[in-house]
Amino acid sequence: MNIIRVPGYEQMSRKAAECILSVLNQAGSPVLGLATGSTPKGLYAELILDHQKNGTSYKQVTTINLDEYIGLPVSDPNSYHSFMEQHLFCHLDVLPSNTHLPNGETADVKKECDRYEALIDQHPIDIQVLGIGQNGHIGFNEPGTPFGRTTHITALTSSTRQANARFFPSIEDVPKQAITMGIASIMKSRNILLLASGFKKAEAIKRLFSGEISEAFPASVLHHHPHVTILADDEALSSAT
Ligand code: PGA
Repeated sequence: MNIIRVPGYEQMSRKAAECILSVLNQAGSPVLGLATGSTPKGLYAELILDHQKNGTSYKQVTTINLDEYIGLPVSDPNSYHSFMEQHLFCHLDVLPSNTHLPNGETADVKKECDRYEALIDQHPIDIQVLGIGQNGHIGFNEPGTPFGRTTHITALTSSTRQANARFFPSIEDVPKQAITMGIASIMKSRNILLLASGFKKAEAIKRLFSGEISEAFPASVLHHHPHVTILADDEALSSAT
């Protein structure tokens, strides 16, 4: 694991954007694995700024997101479709037909999982952006998820629902299930960039560096991947060192 320490969130976001831009410059038709949540918002703002200032084009770029809630309409402001549209896609020249998220409002979610995994196989991801949950989840792969899982339906833990409740009118409104890339799907990516910022991630980062590799702590699978960069700020690293 390559660990990059930065002072704070802004530097993390800038450095993450540099990593993504270097992939965009190398690959002819790059495939970006993207994440939602508070962590990558700064990265997306940096990519937008670069697009506006330097004209980096996304016309050849394909994006594949990690996950989506089940049961929320795509148009719901809290859907991950809406998040990506608002925080990234509508500001770039990426083709809508090249942006992919699981469809959480389809009647046959099992079939949707299979379709999504096939999509990942057709478009191998050059770099996958990850956040990390306080319980070590990556995507919505909660503790206990077998490392061999591909895209699947998952029940959100109460801690994850509570962490995400800040975006919803009340905790009852937070969906209970999601479609997520599995751990095996994530591990297919050529490169992985895990971002962590703030004291609330310090225990998870400490555990990630503890040497433990177990399904009880999903992010620990990354020790098995050959090209992982952990980009973390001083606060997130405060318990690890
Ligand atoms: P956050 O979520 O970026 O909103 O902290 C990360 C995650 O839960 O994976």
